[in-house]
Amino acid sequence: MNKHIALLAGDGIGPEITQGAVAVLQAVAARYGHTFTFEPLLIGGCAIDEAGEPLPAHTVKRCLASDSVLLGAVGGPKWDALPGDRRPEKGLLGIRKAMGLYANIRPARLWPALADASPLRRELTKNGIDLIVVRELTGGIYFGERGSCRDAETGESAWDTERYSEQEIVRITRIACELAQKRSGRIVSVDKANVLETSRLWRRTVHAYAQKYYPDVTVSDMLVDNCAMQIVRNPAQFDVLLTSNMFGDILSDEAAQVTGSIGMLASSSLGDTPCGLYEPIHGSAPDIAGRDLANPIATILAAAMMLRDAFGMAEECAAVERAVEATLSEGWRTADIFSAGMKRIGCREMARRIAQHI
Ligand code: IPM
Ligand code: MG
Repeated sequence: MNKHIALLAGDGIGPEITQGAVAVLQAVAARYGHTFTFEPLLIGGCAIDEAGEPLPAHTVKRCLASDSVLLGAVGGPKWDALPGDRRPEKGLLGIRKAMGLYANIRPARLWPALADASPLRRELTKNGIDLIVVRELTGGIYFGERGSCRDAETGESAWDTERYSEQEIVRITRIACELAQKRSGRIVSVDKANVLETSRLWRRTVHAYAQKYYPDVTVSDMLVDNCAMQIVRNPAQFDVLLTSNMFGDILSDEAAQVTGSIGMLASSSLGDTPCGLYEPIHGSAPDIAGRDLANPIATILAAAMMLRDAFGMAEECAAVERAVEATLSEGWRTADIFSAGMKRIGCREMARRIAQHI
């Protein structure tokens, strides 16, 4: 197959980790007789520097014309002082919105080779961790009305509003139900229905829709504060977690961290077309950028998800996952997952070794 991939390296470690993923994808192409072409495009801080805005129209146009998008990470201290609508993060939010990517799929699992990396006591992880956060990605407080004003008595005030429509809740519920059917058939829907009106609508809508169209899927509810606690208390209880944009942002970082290796976790952002956006869960890590220290595995696994979900290449995806596992079992580790007795290597070398296993 011929596939054209938009490559949004972004900032910080973004260029190094996406290069790692490209090396592995090229190995896949060679091994399985595909042709992948890569089109580098600007997003985030580097786009601000070079094109004056975090998401140039050209980037959006080319992403929409591609078969799939692979993204590194955006942001860094250099652009922290810019106003909200001109920050690098605006580029990421903008591309999600422009491509209609309303569903963010964030699997968090404990890799057998890294079982000891979890910050949780062994007793709490002995049943493993294998959960998927299904996060609504183009609505809620991230995209609601916001503003600020000033008055003499109280000083400055600012507000952000959370708003959800039934239509937005239904379409993300459908994605979670489809996923749950392929897994345990259980969804935990996370909200704050004891306080928020949007959460009460969320809860009603999720149940009504799932009951009607996916009667074989069991949906239970959990309040977000309890869920944050349960993730560290007993992560094995969760399979599919369905939640709103902001709760999903927070819980997915927590779920990633309890696996001990945020540098290992990939995600996909999907809409109603096959063209999605694939990226690591972690950020741009400016403190280690450009030093060949980053872990490219999350981005390599995002590329694997892309092979399977965007291109229908299940076998190629499995080959990449096996290559990662093989490299880890040989004891190769980047700094973030290093432990005594293992062999420490850099970003480039890790990618090269994984590519070699393809
Ligand atoms: C994420 C990130 C983004 C988000 C930021 C960089 C805008 O934290 O993808 O989880 O909040 O969605
Ligand atoms: Mg986040």
